[in-house]
Amino acid sequence: MSNIVILTGAGISAESGIKTFRDANGLWEDHRIEDVASPEGFRRDPDTVYRFYNMRRRQLVSDAVQANAAHTALARLQKKHSDDVTLITQNIDDLHERGGSQNVLHMHGELLKARCDACRAISDFRDDFDGQTNCAECNSAGGLRPHIVWFGEMPLYMDMIEEKIAACDVFVSIGTSGQVYPAAGFVAMARHFGAETHELNLEPSAVSHHFDYTDYGPATEVVPRWVDRMLGR
Ligand code: APR
Repeated sequence: MSNIVILTGAGISAESGIKTFRDANGLWEDHRIEDVASPEGFRRDPDTVYRFYNMRRRQLVSDAVQANAAHTALARLQKKHSDDVTLITQNIDDLHERGGSQNVLHMHGELLKARCDACRAISDFRDDFDGQTNCAECNSAGGLRPHIVWFGEMPLYMDMIEEKIAACDVFVSIGTSGQVYPAAGFVAMARHFGAETHELNLEPSAVSHHFDYTDYGPATEVVPRWVDRMLGR
């Protein structure tokens, strides 16, 4: 069995009922991405931003959203080879965890967490919160924000991610359009360090030319098929 690094994006959760980001009209749930996913947008209109993430959080915890066959297939691979599989996701949902995965590196943060700008604590939040909500750690109000990496902010776990990519034999990218860096650059990095590169997506991504092996189709079909292949190696 080889050392595998998996990178996932919004496409793996699409069949669970969570919309991907880049729809044809450039809007995300009827908001301009820069209004709800940037520190400037948050400073300009915090109420809209809190409301936006509260709405998405409610959707995520509702019964309508469940992990799908692609999430569970990756968990199956991880369980068989826990030391050799690193799972990095750009997704802020918890569907990998619900599908049975552990140690998921959420490089763009997590929707079910809040961060306090006063004391820096990160706490679990399944309910709504806003600018009046008290931090569970320091009890001060006004400092909580969604624990989400917005445009212009540094993604999380970058040192560990780069280390894992440099050491992997297989790098696979699943359900991501390859338009947002640094994640879109991981495949080139993996290749540079000699890894075999695989792309699983509905369609070729913006960086598809960097991949040695590709399989295009819905994640619930292509991911279980790929996992079976890897387990058979
Ligand atoms: N199965 C597989 N792939 C799919 C499916 C599906 N059922 N449905 C859509 N896709 C593919 C699309 O073809 C597209 O290439 O998933 C990709 C989703 O692309 P984006 O919407 O751009 O999402 P992602 O690449 O995760 O975005 C990266 O951008 O806005 C930021 O921080 C946000 O993490 C996000 C980052």
